[in-house]
Amino acid sequence: MLDKERPDLVHICTPPFTHTAQVVECLEAGAWVWCEKPLCLSLAEFDAIAAAEGAAGPYSSVVFQHRFGSGAHHLRSLMAEGVLGRPLVALWRDHLVPRPPAYYEVPWRGTWASEGGGPTMGHGIHQMDMMLSILGEWEEIRAMAGRLDRDVETEDVSMAMVRFSSGAMASVVNSVLSPREQSYLRFDFAQATVELRHLYGYANADWSSTSQAWSPPQDVPSSHAAQLGELLDAFERGERPTGQRRRGPQDHGAGDAACTPRR
Ligand SMILES: NC(=O)c1ccc[n+]([C@@H]2O[C@H](COP(=O)([O-])OP(=O)(O)OC[C@H]3O[C@@H](n4cnc5c(N)ncnc54)[C@H](O)[C@@H]3O)[C@@H](O)[C@H]2O)c1
Repeated sequence: MLDKERPDLVHICTPPFTHTAQVVECLEAGAWVWCEKPLCLSLAEFDAIAAAEGAAGPYSSVVFQHRFGSGAHHLRSLMAEGVLGRPLVALWRDHLVPRPPAYYEVPWRGTWASEGGGPTMGHGIHQMDMMLSILGEWEEIRAMAGRLDRDVETEDVSMAMVRFSSGAMASVVNSVLSPREQSYLRFDFAQATVELRHLYGYANADWSSTSQAWSPPQDVPSSHAAQLGELLDAFERGERPTGQRRRGPQDHGAGDAACTPRR
């Protein structure tokens, strides 16, 4: 199909362990790529993808729809305007329900080789990406992972403490052990608190803030559509898609299995 149809853009929706080879093949055929998370399972795979991109495209990008809703855009604009003050403390909690055993019967779920991790790579990765898009580069992480209840090879819960380059500190929980499901994010700035409670996607009504300035414009829920619009605009301009970051210097030395796609 790559030879015959010469696609401009390929959306890769296959299981995680297939991503790197498929992304590289598409890039080498001249197609831009929009790949479902996780982009890849190791830093070496990440480097192979980066090497297959051209200096002026084609580019690869990852489906991280939560950073593209109007609430996240509004928060980043208020931060850029200096309205909220310095970011100080953040919490994000991804409490998802226990998956039924049938969920893990799909052959690619629940193993390090096929999925690269458990809920941290498969679910919490969306909240972590949004947090990075808001708080910027991280400098230090201390983390623990455990397998408390599910019959899987990977973790079913992970917790981390993160220090960002700005000095802000965050606490993170990713779990698929929580009978009451909720993704909760809280950002405490010097002048205001901003909170988000949602489940697999948010609209403006899911956000709240103590700031009088909090007033997101038109409601653009976090969604594939919201990200795709921005990706296609970048494609037309021939520019690297917004929010898609290259691997930073702080990624060196991170454990390979802990690779988080950072674009
Ligand atoms: N962005 C999101 O919110 C979101 C939500 C769900 C899943 N995902 C991601 O999407 C991807 C797919 O997840 P899913 O739940 O749809 O999986 P799935 O198992 O339901 O579907 C995967 C599909 O890929 C096909 N496939 C498998 N190997 C292939 C290969 N080598 N070449 C071509 N096709 C192949 C399978 O036949 C199947 O149709 C995963 O990376 C997952 O993490 C993202």
